[in-house]
Amino acid sequence: MKRPILIHPDPRLKKPALPIADLSDDLRRLADDMLETMYAAPGIGLAAPQIGVDTRLIVMDCIKGDGAPPRPIAMFNPEIVAASDERSIYEEGCLSIPDVYADVERPAAVTARWIDRNGAEQQETFDGLWATCLQHEIDHLNGVLFIDYLTALRRQLITRKMVKLKKDRMREKA
Ligand code: NI
Repeated sequence: MKRPILIHPDPRLKKPALPIADLSDDLRRLADDMLETMYAAPGIGLAAPQIGVDTRLIVMDCIKGDGAPPRPIAMFNPEIVAASDERSIYEEGCLSIPDVYADVERPAAVTARWIDRNGAEQQETFDGLWATCLQHEIDHLNGVLFIDYLTALRRQLITRKMVKLKKDRMREKA
């Protein structure tokens, strides 16, 4: 089931999410809902707080190009355990901040540890777009948005634009 995505500014996007104690069918369904919501948007990553759920769960699929098979990943309690000294810059966007893009510099490669949908611990090193996306999504679990890496002035301008967007959307609905 597709879920509505929260738009910045929203206090639920600024709040650290809680670790998952036990994997359940409800949580697996939540991961499926998040993947459906992410693909429909369309986007390459989504974190539970973006749909108003206060849980450390992210989903991603950064496969690009025609005909490439999808690689949907759901990570419960994801953690970065190592990061490269080498850094890379990607133009990032966020489903909670529509139509805003900005360059963000982050470690070029990161090793993550997480619990998969079967409850098994996984560890893998990601680079390229996957590494950036993973760090962006884990940031969401800590109440951090990519615009937090920009100057205060730029962030204020973006926030003002989003406030207006939300008002316009509400007016459309009314
Ligand atoms: Ni985002």
